[in-house]
Amino acid sequence: QQDPPYVFVIFGASGDLARKKIYPTLWWLYRDDLLPKNVHFVGYARSDLTMEKIRDSFEKNAKVRDNEKDKFEAFLKQNTYIQGSYDKVESFKKLQEFNDDLQKRTKQPVNRLYYLALPPSVFAEVTQHLKEACMDYGDSWTRIIIEKPFGTDSDSSAELSKHLSSLFKEDQIYRIDHYLGKEMVQNLMTLRFGNRLFGPSWNRDHIASVVITFKEDFGTAGRAGYFDTSGIIRDVMQNHLMQVLTLLAMEKPVSLNAEDIRDEKVKVLKSMPPVELKDVIVGQYVANPDSAHPEAKAGYLDDKDVPNDSVTPTYCMAVLKVNNERWDGVPFIMKCGKGLDEKKSEVRIQFREVPGDIYAPGELKRTELVIRVAPNEAVYLKLMTKKPGMDFGVEESELDLSYNSRYHGVRLPDAYERLFLEVFMGSQINFVRSDELEHAWRVFTPLLQQLEKEKVKPVQYKFGGRGPVEADELSRKFGYIFTG
Ligand code: BG6
Repeated sequence: QQDPPYVFVIFGASGDLARKKIYPTLWWLYRDDLLPKNVHFVGYARSDLTMEKIRDSFEKNAKVRDNEKDKFEAFLKQNTYIQGSYDKVESFKKLQEFNDDLQKRTKQPVNRLYYLALPPSVFAEVTQHLKEACMDYGDSWTRIIIEKPFGTDSDSSAELSKHLSSLFKEDQIYRIDHYLGKEMVQNLMTLRFGNRLFGPSWNRDHIASVVITFKEDFGTAGRAGYFDTSGIIRDVMQNHLMQVLTLLAMEKPVSLNAEDIRDEKVKVLKSMPPVELKDVIVGQYVANPDSAHPEAKAGYLDDKDVPNDSVTPTYCMAVLKVNNERWDGVPFIMKCGKGLDEKKSEVRIQFREVPGDIYAPGELKRTELVIRVAPNEAVYLKLMTKKPGMDFGVEESELDLSYNSRYHGVRLPDAYERLFLEVFMGSQINFVRSDELEHAWRVFTPLLQQLEKEKVKPVQYKFGGRGPVEADELSRKFGYIFTG
C-alpha cells in the first residue's frame, strides 16, 4: 500500500505572498523531508500561467543551493497549476477532478489542504465553492488555511466567521498569524512557564511596563494599494502584536494543548477595554531627502496608489490595558511603524525600582528583560552589576542569550514552515481561534471607527527616522524610562 496522498492547494498562486513565502516554504519543507511522502501541490489562480512561470516567480526566493538542484526538480514535478475563476463552481470541479484522479490512482482517500491567499472580495465565494465541489470523502480530511485580513472591524469579522462556521467546523479552520510561528514568539511561553525565576515577579507588583515594538526600515514597498485600505493598526497591531501581548499576559494554561492555551489567551483579551484615542499616536511618513533609502524620496501620500488626503496611519503607538488582578495599572505599550530607522521587533519588560535603594540617587537603573524577535534573535536581561576590579561603583550590564553565538549554526525555521507543518499534523496551537479574533477586534474597532469618521490627521515623521516624537512623550507619560 502506498503512502496516503495529500494535496496542498494554493489559491492566489500568482500573488505576492505565493511568490515570496508560500512556494519557498513548501520547497524548504519538501527539501528537508518534513512533509508526507505522497504530497502534491496545486497552484490555482485566474491568470493564464504555467508551472514554468510560477517557478520563475519564486525560484530566487527559494534559495536553492547547487547540491539541491535535483531535489528541486523533483519538488517541481509534484506541482501542478490550474487556471480557474473564483466565482464559478465549474472551475472548482476541475480541482476536484485532480483530487479524484489522485484518489483513483492511489486507491486511497486524499487529504486536502486549501490555502487561501486571496483578497477578501472573493473569499466568501471561494469557500462556498470549495464546500460545494472540493471536499474530501472516505477516511480523509479537509483543512482550510486562511490569511489575514480576517475582516476589517468587529462586524465584518463576525460576518466572515459566521460564513466560515456555516461551511466548516472550527477544527478545520486554520487562521494564520505568522507571528505565532516565529522562534522567539514560540519561546515566550517557555521563558515564562519553564523558569521559576519569572513566575513570582510576572505581575503588577514587580513589572512597571511592557513594550512591544515592531519597526520596519522600508515603506509600503509596492503594496500601498492594499496598505491604504488597511493601515498599520489592522496590518500589524490588531493581529501580530496582540498575539504577542496575549502570550505575555496570559495565565499558565492547564496544559500545552491547543484549546487550553487559546482559552487563556481569550481570557486576557476579554479583560482588555477598547483602546482610547487619547492613548494613541498615529503617524504617517513623509519624504526624507537626506536619506539614501530608495523609498525615502517619496512620502506615503506621494505614492500613486494612495489618495492625496489619505489619513491611513503608517505608524501607531497605543497604550493598552489588561484589567485583571495580575496586570491592573500596567501599561502595555505597542508601537509599530513602517519607514523607520531600523528593522526590529522586540518585547521589553521593564521592572519596577528596587525598594529601599541604598545606592547613590539615580545610580540604579531598572531591570529590563528584552526578547528580540527579529532580526538577531536574543533574550537578554539588563541588570545592575558591580563594576569589575578595584572600583566600588555599579553599572548596568547584560545576561545575554544571543542566538547567533549560543546556537551558532542552528537553522531557525521560517515562521511559515512551522505553521504549514502544524496544519499537516492537525495542530491548532499556533492558529487563531474565532473568539480570539472577535475580542481582538473588539479592542480596536472603536478606535479605528473614530480615526476614520473624524479623519484624524496622523502626525508626520520623516522616512528613516525614529518615528513621531509625540510617541516618546506618550510612553514617558505612562512611566516608561528609556534605556536604549
Ligand atoms: C505582514 C504585514 O503580516 O507582516 C507586512 O502585512 C509586514 O506589512 C509583515 O511587513 C512583517 O512580517 P515579517 O515576518 O517579515 O517581519
